[in-house]
Amino acid sequence: MPESAHTTHDADEDARNRDILIYVNGELVHRDEAKVSVYDSGFLLGDGMWEGMRLYDGEWAFFDAHMDRFFDSCRSVSLDVGMDRDGIRAALEKTAQANGMETDVHCRLMLTRGVKAKPFQHPGLSRSGPTLVIIMEHSKPVNALQSRGIRLATVPQVRGLPMSQDPKLNSHSKLNCVIACLQAEQAGADEGLMLDPHGFVNTTNACNFFIVRRGEVWTSTGDYCMNGVTRANVIRLCEQNGIPIHQKNFSLYEAYGASEAFLTGTFGAQTPVAEIDGKPIGSGERPVTAEIQRLYKEMVAQDVAAQSARRAAPADSGTQP
Ligand SMILES: Cc1ncc(COP(=O)(O)O)c(C=O)c1O
Repeated sequence: MPESAHTTHDADEDARNRDILIYVNGELVHRDEAKVSVYDSGFLLGDGMWEGMRLYDGEWAFFDAHMDRFFDSCRSVSLDVGMDRDGIRAALEKTAQANGMETDVHCRLMLTRGVKAKPFQHPGLSRSGPTLVIIMEHSKPVNALQSRGIRLATVPQVRGLPMSQDPKLNSHSKLNCVIACLQAEQAGADEGLMLDPHGFVNTTNACNFFIVRRGEVWTSTGDYCMNGVTRANVIRLCEQNGIPIHQKNFSLYEAYGASEAFLTGTFGAQTPVAEIDGKPIGSGERPVTAEIQRLYKEMVAQDVAAQSARRAAPADSGTQP
């Protein structure tokens, strides 16, 4: 990656990450020693699902929304998680505690179909149960990106139709997105702006994409993009706060002419877009993005406080799968 390049996942360097412990199937192992088998379905085929989540004040923000997506994804590919969402929460807590982590933490929770008897595709060859790995890092997105913004390039790689590999699956195999990212890098940009099969603007290789036009917020219909937890939260925030929001088809014509554009994702929340295909977006003033960022911070704080209060209250609710 060139020195000048930025990604939506840039974080401040944190020396504590040098010695973190990684969760591997119940064990906590120093990052240098954390390994999975070369026969693992994730390594051999990208056959697994993952979630990226953020820890604030001891709570995983929007935990239920992440678990809904994770369990739906696993169910849709017949991947048995082997535990319920409380089990996942316990594994996350064990990892956070072992690392002394409380806030400003990002985790990548990964589940694969596990070790295979032979290095071939058939899912039936994965016979020893799933592999669950949790990587947790101290992580604060870099501030510089807020003023500088991210540079996007429209790439030839498109989002697929749901009957090939549904883009809603947060699968280990991200080759479609990796190819898009490579194409963007080769075009001198930071991230790839991907179109849908009809040529409408859809999403980027790692985040969801929004534009602002005449005070309205637009994003794609959602048919070909990752059903981002942050995307859904931004849509809800707009609806609840009188900011006009439309999920609709639009083309590069409207994206180039936007007054603001931003990306959403758990890692960076909302990242401003500075340019698309070398064309600067708007004047550089970003009042709508700033308002959404403010509302989103409040939303995170409310969610974290509500989870914390629920957990402090006596347990009387039924467990979800
Ligand atoms: C392709 C893609 N789009 C969007 C997102 C953002 O999703 P979320 O807001 O749930 O983090 C991700 C994150 O995993 C992603 O991989």
